[in-house]
Amino acid sequence: MATILDQLHTDHINVVKLLELFERELEVLKRSDSEPNYFKWQNILLYMTTYQDVFHHPAEEKVFAYLCIDDPEVSQAVKEVESQHEILYQKSERLQGLLMDVETNTITIDKSDLHIACKDYIHQLQKHMSLEEAIIFPYAKKQLQKSDLDDLDKSINKINDPLFGLIKRAEFSELYQCICEQ
Ligand SMILES: [Fe+2]
Ligand SMILES: [Fe+2]
Repeated sequence: MATILDQLHTDHINVVKLLELFERELEVLKRSDSEPNYFKWQNILLYMTTYQDVFHHPAEEKVFAYLCIDDPEVSQAVKEVESQHEILYQKSERLQGLLMDVETNTITIDKSDLHIACKDYIHQLQKHMSLEEAIIFPYAKKQLQKSDLDDLDKSINKINDPLFGLIKRAEFSELYQCICEQ
């Protein structure tokens, strides 16, 4: 049976694919003759705010809290990613709102400013996942016994992944198709 560590790692693989799509979409923004699909971008952020921010990051924090960390490098990495979670919550909410305003023409924003905001979000998230994968997850994998993973499994409220899970949210079907085709 897949453990919470397997699930968190799978989430990272999925987010990497999603960010690859987002980066390719951003190329459209650079070409002044084409209008980006802001609805698709909004759905990328909707996924981040309704699954990754709600399930993935809190689940990681439960795992981190369970560890008895005796390695200063790991302890520093945990502190760093936990503070990044806060920043990422704010950034994803803000970017989602911004994209909604752009799509509904509530605001006009310079394309290069929008490009910078999206790139910054992608970059922060990539850096964040790399730190977790390089330092924290290998340590957790070594330290956590089966009984610990069972305890964590019981204490973490699992929710269905609405984009990559078996039951997909209707709004995400086009987005999922684009990820599969890339
Ligand atoms: Fe995280
Ligand atoms: Fe993560």
